[in-house]
Parts: sequence; C-alpha cells; structure tokens
Amino acid sequence: MKKPIAVLVLIIITMGILGISVWLNSTIQNSSFACSLTETNPQGPYYIPGAPYKEKLGELISGQRLIISGNVLNQDCNPVSNAIIDVWQTDSNGNYYFEDFTLRGQITADNSGQYKIETVFPGKYSESGATRPAHIHLKISAPGLSSHTTQVYFEGDEHLDFLVKPSLILKMDERDGIKYSEFDFVIFTP
Ligand SMILES: [Fe+2]
Repeated sequence: MKKPIAVLVLIIITMGILGISVWLNSTIQNSSFACSLTETNPQGPYYIPGAPYKEKLGELISGQRLIISGNVLNQDCNPVSNAIIDVWQTDSNGNYYFEDFTLRGQITADNSGQYKIETVFPGKYSESGATRPAHIHLKISAPGLSSHTTQVYFEGDEHLDFLVKPSLILKMDERDGIKYSEFDFVIFTP
C-alpha cells in the first residue's frame, strides 16, 4: 500500500473507533444515568382545578379498591420532594362528579418522593361515539414547577385507544380483592 493511502485508511479507522466510542458512551449514559420523562397525555374536558388535598379518593364510593404507589422522580432519577399529584377520575360506572370533588383530589408525595393513591378502579365512558378505556388523569407538579399532565391506563383493557401510549399502561396485581400497581412518574426539574 502506498504511504498516502495507508495514512488515509488509518485516519478512517481512527475516526470510526472514535465514533463508536462516543456512541457507546452516550448510549450508556442514556440507559443508566437518566430517567425518561413520563409521557404526556391530554388533560381532557373534565378537569376541575382546586381539588382539596386528600389521602384517599372515593372513600364513600362503591367499587373495587385500587392502590397505585411509587415515586415522583426527576430527569436525573432523583426524588422530587413534596411533589403534588392532582388526580381526577370516574367511578366504576364511568361517571365523573362535578358538583363536589368526589374522586378528585391532590395527593402529596413525601420528602423522598414516595406517593400512594388509594381510590376505586375507574370505569369506562363513551366519548364521541367511542369507548374510552379505564383511565386516571393526573397532573404531577411540585412547588415552583409547572404541571406535567398525563393519564394512566391498565393492562388487559380491550378498549385501549389512540391516546394510549404503551409506557402509560400500568401492570396490575391483585391481592384480597384489591388491585395494586407500582409506577414511577418522572417530571422535569430545572
Ligand atoms: Fe377521562
């Protein structure tokens, strides 16, 4: 091989190795050292601001009990302390309540970002001629932060529609007649 060609080949090989190294480094950082933000979902038409702070939702409402718990984290996977989750949902028959804050409330996470939503399993309702899957609406925030609005859905629902993103489908467990799910919300903090 002539010398200029050999130098050119050497440069190309070196650049290739450098490129692979940069790509590997960014892949490792993305997969190991960062949390992906929870995907958003539309607020929908049934939100009422100003719901009271609650520990449990729908205590006087009949229906299967549901407990969702987990952490509120930021993009660096650090807990967001004193996070607030504004929750609204239907009862098990798919009815929203508008005259009071039944099945609407703000749940606070603790200092380490842990939260627990105790409620009833929501029902389905018809909207624009289509059946909406069972879902819960949430706005996740913390003092000084804007809200991160989304909805969560439940695995096995036959009516999962075009709004549903796979990352928002909760895996479910059931013990003693109570449905459980664990889910971490990830929101952006500056
Ligand atoms: Fe809804």
